[in-house]
Amino acid sequence: MLEAVERQIQHYITDLGDPDARMLYRRLPHGKRLRARLILTIAGTGLPAVKTAAIVEMIHAASLLHDDVLDEAYVRRGRPSINAAFDNKTAIMFGDVLYSKGFHELVDIDRDVARIISDAVVRLSLGERQDIVLAERFNADRTAYLNMIDQKTAALIQASAEAAAHLVGKDRRIYRTYGRNLGLAFQMIDDLLDVTEDAATLGKPAMHDFAEGKTTLPYIYLHEALKGADKQRLAALHGRPLQPEDEAWIRTEMDRHHAIERSRDEAKELIEEAIALMADAGETSLEAIARSMIERSF
Ligand code: IPE
Ligand code: IPE
Ligand code: MG
Ligand code: MG
Ligand code: MG
Repeated sequence: MLEAVERQIQHYITDLGDPDARMLYRRLPHGKRLRARLILTIAGTGLPAVKTAAIVEMIHAASLLHDDVLDEAYVRRGRPSINAAFDNKTAIMFGDVLYSKGFHELVDIDRDVARIISDAVVRLSLGERQDIVLAERFNADRTAYLNMIDQKTAALIQASAEAAAHLVGKDRRIYRTYGRNLGLAFQMIDDLLDVTEDAATLGKPAMHDFAEGKTTLPYIYLHEALKGADKQRLAALHGRPLQPEDEAWIRTEMDRHHAIERSRDEAKELIEEAIALMADAGETSLEAIARSMIERSF
């Protein structure tokens, strides 16, 4: 069912009438298309749903083009990122092209869908900004982390679910909550995979978040658990490239203090809550997609 979405994206890109944009899009490998799958699972495969899914994936791709500039990350979806293969200027401008084309096409779908999605992109951008602000120091505040991921990641996934529900006249509120839980859990898992998986599996850098100053949930829990000199050692490693022995130490300490397990349990809880909500609404087909958000290795 995703082929229709691929075709729609291709159509939007061709419609730009710009050989350079076509070349850059060809350079962009596909991701998991989770947001598109979510939209089609809720709204079916009618044209408005396919268009919404295509636009959301273009917007998501734009956010990753900018994200790799912000995070100084040089691998994406198993290939050199656009900022690495070309430069930051190319990544930023092609990101802007994808965002703008997405917004332009949204207007023709439905006014409410356009509002839901564009509002989410404002929140995504504010969240990406907060991620940078929080990374300036060792953030040990779990609430600040949760508010940030709510914006940078959950907002677009929540909006995908809500817009899809709106397209087919389903109760928007339940899908909104479902999507928000999925989005929060999805980012929590992304953050722990950064610690547990290698770059080949992830298709993007591994053990990169902490070096970039990001204290994700496992780091917050580890910091909470460590005492004295160990706590100081962790704080001193923040925001700089890690030596292999420091990486190993962090992983061992996270194991010892169940920091990964705690984070995974937290994501699982959000997913179970989302599944229960959908079971009550008789939407059992949304269980598998919720589970796939957390049962993954990349
Ligand atoms: C990556 O999203 C950015 C996050 C929100 C963690 P995805 O993991 O959905 O990226 P692709 O589209 O599959 O590459
Ligand atoms: C998610 O954060 C990025 C966006 C929501 C745009 P990350 O920086 O963790 O995403 P990855 O790990 O690079 O995919
Ligand atoms: Mg990143
Ligand atoms: Mg980032
Ligand atoms: Mg990440």
